[in-house]
Amino acid sequence: MSLSYQHIYHAGNQADIHKHLWLVATLDYLKKKEKPFYWLDTHSGRGLYDLASPEAMKTAEYRDGLFRLENASCNHTTWDLYKAMIADVNGKDSFTGKAQKYPGSSVLTAMMLRDSDRMTSCELHPGEFTHLKRALRPFSNAKAKKTDMRHELFAALPPDERRGGVLIDPSYELKDEYDTIAKDVLKAHRKWATGIYMIWYPMLPSGRHETLKAHFKDFDGDIIIDEWIYGQKNQEFGMYGSGMIVINPQYTVPETLDSLKAKILPLFQSR
Ligand SMILES: C[S@@+](CC[C@H](N)C(=O)[O-])C[C@H]1O[C@@H](n2cnc3c(N)ncnc32)[C@H](O)[C@@H]1O
Repeated sequence: MSLSYQHIYHAGNQADIHKHLWLVATLDYLKKKEKPFYWLDTHSGRGLYDLASPEAMKTAEYRDGLFRLENASCNHTTWDLYKAMIADVNGKDSFTGKAQKYPGSSVLTAMMLRDSDRMTSCELHPGEFTHLKRALRPFSNAKAKKTDMRHELFAALPPDERRGGVLIDPSYELKDEYDTIAKDVLKAHRKWATGIYMIWYPMLPSGRHETLKAHFKDFDGDIIIDEWIYGQKNQEFGMYGSGMIVINPQYTVPETLDSLKAKILPLFQSR
């Protein structure tokens, strides 16, 4: 399979903020119990993004996402944690909004692991994998693997810890991924029914994401679909929002996301 997608062109956009707040809130909830957990990041990207790089600046999508959060006032521990991690990767004591470095899903997760927790980060693109390996080097319990996530999804689950979950964040470069990802997750869920599964998807005028959602219409279990709409649906191309399908959401996490959405989404929607 030849991969050309590079997340650096989209790092720190509204969709990243949506997805990463779900991730941080979920991991924070898991840490309320002492028992260790396992996390699988199926599509890791490069882990850490330089927003001052020519690639990121070419699209500058972070301007409509991260950079709008400078004055956001959310009174929530998830928000404080997220801001503290962004400040940390930038070598700063506090969050300034206009950060130069942005932590992706694997670095955020690695930063939140305790000594007893574990993570595997899969990435298939050779260039992205090289970056990922470097970004995860400081974290001894976060393992970068240059492997097809499909292999890891079935080989690693259920984990010995029997607690934890999976973030599934495909690039949807292959159009059949709206089908195959859903089928793979449902199969993994049959092997490990108590795991958390969080699938991100773009909302596109073509409506392809409806194919993905349709697979979960009759899902027999605890599931939430959370969509953030920040653009116009009537344009021919381009993402107008993003969605998260979350199986086995942790008890207070949906409430946390609702309260963050109420504060943050209006900042993304204003022109
Ligand atoms: C949207 S990006 C990931 C962004 C990252 N999760 C984040 O939030 O920072 C998707 C990544 O998945 C990788 N990828 C695509 N298909 C894959 C597969 N079958 N197995 C592992 N990685 C894959 C791509 O190379 C790309 O880097």
